Amino acid sequence: MEQEADSTVLITGGAGFLGSHATLVLLEAGRSVVVLDDFSNSRPEALRRVAALAGLDGWTATAPGQWRAGPSTGVSLQVVTGDVRRVGDLEAAFAQAPIGAVLHFAGLKAVAESVRQPLRYWQVNVGGSLRLLEAMTAHGCRTLVFSSSATLYGLCEQVPISESAPVQPINPYGSTKAAVERLLADAAASEPGWRIACLRYFNPVGAHPSGRIGEDPSGLPNNLFPLVSQVAVGRLPQLQVYGCDWPTADGTGIRDYIHVMDLAEGHRAALALLEQESPQFLTLNLGSGRGHSVLELVRAFEAASGRPVPWQAAPRRPGDSAVSIADASAAQRRLDWRASRSLDECCRDGWAWQQANPHGYGD
Ligand code: NAD
Ligand code: UD1
Repeated sequence: MEQEADSTVLITGGAGFLGSHATLVLLEAGRSVVVLDDFSNSRPEALRRVAALAGLDGWTATAPGQWRAGPSTGVSLQVVTGDVRRVGDLEAAFAQAPIGAVLHFAGLKAVAESVRQPLRYWQVNVGGSLRLLEAMTAHGCRTLVFSSSATLYGLCEQVPISESAPVQPINPYGSTKAAVERLLADAAASEPGWRIACLRYFNPVGAHPSGRIGEDPSGLPNNLFPLVSQVAVGRLPQLQVYGCDWPTADGTGIRDYIHVMDLAEGHRAALALLEQESPQFLTLNLGSGRGHSVLELVRAFEAASGRPVPWQAAPRRPGDSAVSIADASAAQRRLDWRASRSLDECCRDGWAWQQANPHGYGD
């Protein structure tokens, strides 16, 4: 039941933080990639750098909003500017090459924004996934890795959190991730042939060790790691620590931080498994299985950067929990993969990116 493992991979949202690293890892594994991205939260420059890191020559405009790097035969990166909700844009992506599999990263991800604009989140995250599934069906492509999130566990009290923990999202962003997983499960059950992996990420951080690609949030970041990096580089004066009275050793929240390169390699492993085994529907946590507090991360970042990260205690953030740590054993078992990079490496690589690109790709 093995599937062709050298076909082109479509990566939606491939210019974003996680998608750009996954694109690089797949190119380096010898896969040609078509990226479909509307650049609503990213820039083409990220992909130009991915192509250069992968050793692909040229970065040529092939049509308005489309680029290509690499030889006409052999490994290449093709880029299509477009929206996953638009049939015509999906058709343009599928027209670049015969697509064997899709990694679906495109979506909106800010929790607070999702509370203010739930319809937009449902439209992009759920509507976009639905359109993508329809296009895949039309093109006979049945292999999909979906970017899910540990956010759908809500305020889970039991740690480590395994995949069998209840799905109980507490915000619209989490609801859309749960809904897409449901949609994919229904599609997989409706006809044989689908090979689908829902990967539930914990807290992805860090950057490629070259410092050439990394996270480039527009406006004020929402998450701890980019906030800490921006304080270290002097873009922000200090960090607000949301709660020093949690029931943890130092009173601050504990999370499972996973290096973005480990996460990207987890996608390569998930794709390999889907292509090698019989059609199936898989749900796996991607985390390190280790927890670190806010203050541990601050200290690790200070050590990696040699810069102070001033902080101030602030009230707890609504919707936060004390501890979130993945039970990463199922992914280790099924994918023969584990998150191998330490928190210190996350900080070292995150700092290399931040220091070389204090204003992200805009520099
Ligand atoms: P990101 O915003 O950096 O990347 C998302 C990419 O999708 C961007 O390049 C954006 O321009 C693109 N995009 C957005 N809407 C689109 C649309 N309608 N059509 C085409 N492209 C579109 O985010 P990220 O951190 O790389 O996250 C990628 C995926 O992983 C998202 O689905 C997110 O929900 C999920 N996820 C992220 C985290 C995290 O902490 N970063 C955690 C769990 C899950
Ligand atoms: C947040 C989202 C979650 C999403 C995840 C990854 C919320 C409530 N949850 O999770 O849905 O899946 O990002 O994108 O937004 N912290 C501070 N000061 C800050 C920012 C954060 O002390 O300025 C603390 C938090 O309280 C938490 C830890 O740092 O203890 C990590 O926060 P963050 O990076 O936002 O991730 P999560 O809260 O795990």
